[in-house]
Amino acid sequence: MSVQHFLSLMDLSPATLDSILERAVELKEMRQSGTDWGLLAGKTLAMVFDKSSTRTRVSFEAGMAQLGGSALFLSPDATQQARGEPAEDAARVLSSMVDAIMVRTYAHETLESYAQASSVPVINGLTDRLHPCQLLADLLTWRELRGGIQGTQVAFVGDGNNMCRSYVNAARQFDFSLRIATPADYTPGEEWLNCAPDQVQWHEDPGVAVADAQLVVTDVWASMGQEDEHSDRCQVFEPYQVNAELMARATPDALFMHCLPAHRGEEVTAEVIDGPQSVVWQEAENRLHAQKALLEFLLT
Ligand code: CP
Ligand code: NVA
Repeated sequence: MSVQHFLSLMDLSPATLDSILERAVELKEMRQSGTDWGLLAGKTLAMVFDKSSTRTRVSFEAGMAQLGGSALFLSPDATQQARGEPAEDAARVLSSMVDAIMVRTYAHETLESYAQASSVPVINGLTDRLHPCQLLADLLTWRELRGGIQGTQVAFVGDGNNMCRSYVNAARQFDFSLRIATPADYTPGEEWLNCAPDQVQWHEDPGVAVADAQLVVTDVWASMGQEDEHSDRCQVFEPYQVNAELMARATPDALFMHCLPAHRGEEVTAEVIDGPQSVVWQEAENRLHAQKALLEFLLT
């Protein structure tokens, strides 16, 4: 039987994604009552990080510990990767020793190489293309605060990056309406804008995208690996800042999400991210609960 990986939200059916979110709610309650321990006793997760992380590392590592398992943090300079060991070789060896492998890397193709060679589930901890674990947390947060997301009007404002593409996949899987606002040269790509015409629309004008939105989402303007473009991007993206004026175009009870880390004064103002519509702290905590449900699904 082929191994179930989680490289993209599209790897699982909508019903399976929904059951993972439902289980995440249960695991969150169990964590609060201290009854989640032991569900993954004896299981080990290898975590390969080619890029920095706070939330992803801590949520996977703490999540495995809370479930009675353990996690190994592997950085390129501490492994043979920096000396050129191919991803396929590393995946083959790691998967003979651990129960799952989480990978955060640059090219999505590197992640796919891990998955092809691994005999255990491979989880996407972020690539330049996608960040599906973050979407599990965002969807869980929406579910807790608002219920079902089907039919909701969502606006993603900023760069057509890994988060934006993950929202496209989420719109397809959960059947919500996604309006994307990016500068014309920074869309997620034609294939992403055209893959789900019933769910996904692109607008150059952020005001049009945010009009009557029930959820407004943004992310950094320069992602990891794009540090050299930071100042140029700040100029191009300036009209795409999520500020009080833009939020005023959304519905009065609209929520604001950001995967973090955030740059106050760039993609979002302090007034918005630290304001009453922002749910970013709940969203960040939910990485833990959503990924524990994902790990339980993939490992048992
Ligand atoms: N949102 C997110 O993935 O955060 P980290 O980069 O800190 O893991
Ligand atoms: N788009 C950002 C997300 C960070 C969690 C990046 O890739 O750096």
